[in-house]
Amino acid sequence: MCKFKIRNAVLDDAKQLLIWRNEYLKTGVNGIFVKQELSSQVKWLNKVLDDECFDILIAEYNDVAIGVVRIEKKYNCNVLSWTVDSSFRGQGYGVQMVKSAIHGRHGPFCAVVRSDNVASIKIANSIGLKPIFTYEQLLVFSSDADNDFVKEWVANNSTFK
Ligand SMILES: CC(C)(COP(=O)(O)OP(=O)(O)OC[C@H]1O[C@@H](n2cnc3c(N)ncnc32)[C@H](O)[C@@H]1OP(=O)(O)O)[C@@H](O)C(=O)NCCC(=O)NCCS
Repeated sequence: MCKFKIRNAVLDDAKQLLIWRNEYLKTGVNGIFVKQELSSQVKWLNKVLDDECFDILIAEYNDVAIGVVRIEKKYNCNVLSWTVDSSFRGQGYGVQMVKSAIHGRHGPFCAVVRSDNVASIKIANSIGLKPIFTYEQLLVFSSDADNDFVKEWVANNSTFK
């Protein structure tokens, strides 16, 4: 039987997470691509697995890892980012895993998405996030316009609209 589930990451996920991280940085938010080695990924994962401000959630379909949702608690906000493995895209997993990741969690939720990333904009919309402002080619989405994460962006980016 086909089964979708979401679980906390473990250290053994480091290699897969590295592949997705490099993918995410290439096409995700800022287009700046600094390739990371496995040793530094393991070091980073070791640290964040113990950090209560981070949740790294792995989505699985039939026990195969298909994507990751990262949740960082920053400025009193749950800042979300996500990656679906390139071989599983376009099948609704992005929406499904992000919805599952935030299920039962308290907001506010935020996400920063490139304005040409149509699939991510739809994912953000699907969980009720609204684009609050734009900065260069980035859209800052939030469930709540008046939170500290949004204020921080406004304070640090002069092109607030
Ligand atoms: C963005 C990403 C997570 C989408 O994953 P996915 O599993 O393909 O997403 P879904 O299949 O759930 O699609 C979500 C919506 O986008 C649409 N969509 C998917 N791929 C699309 C594309 N290439 N162009 C336009 N729309 C697209 C789907 O039709 C769906 O719309 P609907 O809800 O109206 O039906 C995936 O492409 C990815 O990992 N990209 C690289 C990392 C990244 O960009 N992360 C975002 C930074 S926060």
